[in-house]
Amino acid sequence: MAAGSRIARRGFFLGFPCLLILAAVAVPWVASPVCGASPTAQRLAVRRHLKRLNKPAVHTIQSPDGDTIDCVHVSHQPAFDHPFLKNHTIQMRPTFHPEGLNFESEARKNSDQRESSMTQLWHLNGRCPENTIPIRRTKKEDLLRASSVKRYGRKKHGRRIPRPSSADPEPINENGHQHAIAYVEGDKYYGARATINVWNPKIQQPNEFSLSQLWILGGSFGEDLNSIEAGWQVSPDLYGDNNTRLFTYWTSDAYQATGCYNLLCSGFIQVSSEIAMGASIFPVSSYHGSQFDISILVWKDPKLGNWWMQFGNDYVLGYWPAFLFSYLADSASMIEWGGEVVNSEPDGQHTATQMGSGHFPEEGFGKSSYFRNIQIVDESNNLRAPRGMGAFTEQSNCYDVQNGNNDDWGSFFYYGGPGKGDNCP
Ligand SMILES: *[C@@H]1O[C@H](CO)[C@@H](O)[C@H](O)[C@H]1NC(C)=O
Ligand SMILES: *[C@@H]1O[C@H](CO)[C@@H](O)[C@H](O)[C@H]1NC(C)=O
Repeated sequence: MAAGSRIARRGFFLGFPCLLILAAVAVPWVASPVCGASPTAQRLAVRRHLKRLNKPAVHTIQSPDGDTIDCVHVSHQPAFDHPFLKNHTIQMRPTFHPEGLNFESEARKNSDQRESSMTQLWHLNGRCPENTIPIRRTKKEDLLRASSVKRYGRKKHGRRIPRPSSADPEPINENGHQHAIAYVEGDKYYGARATINVWNPKIQQPNEFSLSQLWILGGSFGEDLNSIEAGWQVSPDLYGDNNTRLFTYWTSDAYQATGCYNLLCSGFIQVSSEIAMGASIFPVSSYHGSQFDISILVWKDPKLGNWWMQFGNDYVLGYWPAFLFSYLADSASMIEWGGEVVNSEPDGQHTATQMGSGHFPEEGFGKSSYFRNIQIVDESNNLRAPRGMGAFTEQSNCYDVQNGNNDDWGSFFYYGGPGKGDNCP
């Protein structure tokens, strides 16, 4: 699969008759219409798609990492390309914010400066004005890295989230995706939060990635799975570098036709002028050194049904309108927290792509990556510790997870690993 996608990319880029090459390596799923198209048609498709994604900017900020951040008027954001949102009145704030044990304000009282020193790299060069939202500009090169223009910003077909408690276990290493996660299921959930340690894991191949996130899941794990996801990721294919970036994802049909990362399709409605989806997080933690973490809260507005997202204590980013979803229009049936990587090595071999810090849970604080203060929003719209949190990993010798509980951190776990190594051939 790795070789296939590399060939497809090259074929797309040079306008090769790549269907022929693809037939030779028998990878039918990458046979996108773009493959057969003429170079002129490709250029046009790229230009059209860029025009759709990049909205006219009121102000533009150059980030030190090479990103261009466009400040786009809130009412001109990509969400409003959606036919159902043509007459939508933006909710500038949620009608409700879940309450509960607030670990972050406790941390602040102890004059812990972690949160305030946490920033996005582009902030070094400016801020967006009121009534605009910062959007990471998509470049031509971003689209050219994708297997097809239309697939840019979307997860690959056939990707599946592990269902830890499933009676028939998933085949190991399905599509090369590997996880080390904690989860709860069996109730109705109206949101979830976590404080996530931020690292910059090494990625072996550009078509692999490493991420740490929470999943809000609805439905059975079939073709109509609903998912809302948020966290940090390193994804050379998506961003063209190895930076650690804040991201979101959503789908209402198990990653088939709906949904995307960040604002790369219409759906999520952003209200924050401060935080850009897909922008680099700075600083990140170092082994045996300073530790940094980000807090993410996703919850359902009980009045209007929209799913809101908050970053840290201060930034309400925006919301996914309820109509995007089927099951999640009501509630979530499962929550997962943890890491995921792609192993693109064939034949049972393993990539050296790291998850979390690249170190196993046994090493503990400052060395292994963690999720702490893990909470769910219950049926009474209260934040509380999840009951009966389980743990799951496909190959604990490559990436592992260990749950824990204490007064400081509430529900937490350490997770991750180095991938290929002594234990993981
Ligand atoms: C939006 O409003 C216009 C004018 O009131 C109406 O004609 C149209 O049907 C509405 N569109 C949607 C999608 O509700
Ligand atoms: C990302 O990291 C890999 C391996 O660590 C390296 O080979 C590659 O050149 C890096 N890519 C970029 C765009 O910096």
